[in-house]
Amino acid sequence: MNRVKRQKMDTSEEEPRIVEVRRSSEWYEVTWNDGYTGRYPFVWLRDNCRCPLCYYPSSKQRCVLLSDIDVEIEPESEEIIDNGEELKIYWPDKHVSPFPSRWLYRNRFDKTQYDSVNDIKPKPWGSEMINQLPKFDYTKVMEDSRVLRDCLRSLIVSGIAMLTGAPKEQGVTEAIGKRVGHLRTTMYGKIFEVLAIASSSNLAYTTLKLGLHVDLPLYEIPPSIQMLHCIKQCETIGGESQFCDAMKVTNDLKESDPEFYDTLTRVKVDFRLRGKDFIPYHYQFARPIIELDEKGEFKAISHNNAVRAPYMNIPVEEAKNFYKSLAYLDRKLNDKENMIQFKLKEGEVVIFNNNRAMHGRSSFRMAQGYDEGKKTRHLEGGYLQWDVVKSAIRLLDEELDDITIH
Ligand code: OGA
Ligand code: ZN
Ligand code: ZN
Repeated sequence: MNRVKRQKMDTSEEEPRIVEVRRSSEWYEVTWNDGYTGRYPFVWLRDNCRCPLCYYPSSKQRCVLLSDIDVEIEPESEEIIDNGEELKIYWPDKHVSPFPSRWLYRNRFDKTQYDSVNDIKPKPWGSEMINQLPKFDYTKVMEDSRVLRDCLRSLIVSGIAMLTGAPKEQGVTEAIGKRVGHLRTTMYGKIFEVLAIASSSNLAYTTLKLGLHVDLPLYEIPPSIQMLHCIKQCETIGGESQFCDAMKVTNDLKESDPEFYDTLTRVKVDFRLRGKDFIPYHYQFARPIIELDEKGEFKAISHNNAVRAPYMNIPVEEAKNFYKSLAYLDRKLNDKENMIQFKLKEGEVVIFNNNRAMHGRSSFRMAQGYDEGKKTRHLEGGYLQWDVVKSAIRLLDEELDDITIH
């Protein structure tokens, strides 16, 4: 699917019109009334025929199969019709492909696909974030498209956002999931309750400190976004939330300690979790602590000490160097200048990029009377995937910025 920002050419009085079509051995050279000339290979034109036999109108999907297409195909003839608003191509098998001029103009080869999500750039942060946390009113996020879009955009820019004024009851995480798209299911189900319980299946369900970590790096595709909704906060000391931007810390590490950085981007670590919640599970995946994208830039952090497995795919002589590197990174993540700490208030929801904004929690104590069933601290959590969040942003951009898609 191709999308462009609404341009001058798109207004009805200035429709892009074809003024000339020249044929060469493998493509058409098409010139428009604004002087632009684009080349369109024959096989590409046949493959992208927009007629209802080749492109199913209600699903907006190609239904012609590659096996139906001859890669060497050449049109029999062509015709500019409606004063340059359409190009009709006649194929040897009598098939006819009508191409709206506007569609051809938008899908030109030398124009990279426009994706409004790509305009949003991440901005690394340190401890100053404590005073700059993007905050949004829960009700506005649920009702106002603009506020929802700002909130979702900030998940790309900062990797963290705070919603305030949510109900102090279960169901908020699920409601946000429905507002954005749908939640990512894990072995814990659609949502999870963070409560201190006996014989817990996860360290989070205790009163223990949780070091800065990402959730579930043992999945091949870990959860992208995590939400934690505070229903009840502990009245005792502790239970504070900590966050740290691993994009910033690993970028710093690349400059200051390139050998440590190199080790952490290279050595694959095994993450593993075996247990039972609704059903038994045994998840396992190996990945480097710092993952880079194809440009060699930060893609994801996968540090979680609780589920790092003993198995290491490195020579035994390299083990100590790996520990040195990881321990150094861990110290940097926890540095005062990199980390923020606050105690979630009841009715707040913190939403963050699970592959970038690492999270932790200080230990807390059970309230008196816990044994009688009183909840000391109660968070509800859920996950979203980037696909769903980015889809929501694109739809909101279409709605709010009047973007046309084809
Ligand atoms: C979690 C977690 C943090 C907290 O459930 O994944 O890290 O504040 N919880 O309890
Ligand atoms: Zn067709
Ligand atoms: Zn966690």
